[in-house]
Amino acid sequence: MRIDVVSLFPDFVRQCAAVGVVGRAQQRELLQVETWNPRDYATDRHRSVDSGVYGGGPGMVMMIEPLRTTLAAMRTAAPEPVHLVYLSPQGARLTQGRVEALARLPRIALLCGRYEGVDERLLAHEVDEELSIGDYVLSGGELAAAVVIDAVGRLQDGALNDALSAQQDSFSDGLLDCPHYAKPVHDALGSVPEVLLSGDHAAIARWRLKQSLGRTWLRRPDLLSQRGLDAASRALLEE
Ligand code: ADE
Repeated sequence: MRIDVVSLFPDFVRQCAAVGVVGRAQQRELLQVETWNPRDYATDRHRSVDSGVYGGGPGMVMMIEPLRTTLAAMRTAAPEPVHLVYLSPQGARLTQGRVEALARLPRIALLCGRYEGVDERLLAHEVDEELSIGDYVLSGGELAAAVVIDAVGRLQDGALNDALSAQQDSFSDGLLDCPHYAKPVHDALGSVPEVLLSGDHAAIARWRLKQSLGRTWLRRPDLLSQRGLDAASRALLEE
């Protein structure tokens, strides 16, 4: 999969994408991350990418022209059509479901705003989808782009060393993840639950589902009301 990122801070985005699972996915050529800096496409002698906002008020807005030429160059740099995502607090909330859908596309592009945002006319013409990573305001879209790259990149086939771990993630089945334990079995902080040492795979799966259900019930009841509970899950919760 290819991800193009349009950003005034390309080094930051590249560094975020160079580490851990996503960095490895790039090395394995499962993922290609390319960056495009609108300042490189600015035509005036100050290399301006922003201007004051019509109607008055504080702040600057990213102008159409440098972005239009940047996006045109980006789109023609590879043959695959691009699904362009604009990152902003006004977007629809990013969920694991959206991440999974994006991860199935051959190519996406992430447009990072700075200042007060981007001229609305450019957004209306170019952007396929607007996404927010949460109800708070960042000083630019770059951290949100890094979030999308990480969440999408780790889902590429072969990116995770154990393919099962993506299936067991929080949210992949609409529930929070169960607790996990490492060595040793006994420690001053407590012992590993016995069922996990039993080798009884059915009992372990039941325990994990019960823990996931309980945690979701306590911490994120909104997820349970979205997902609904099947009879088996309800019985487990009532045990
Ligand atoms: N840019 C600024 N704040 C953001 C947010 N919460 N999500 C996505 N992009 C943003």
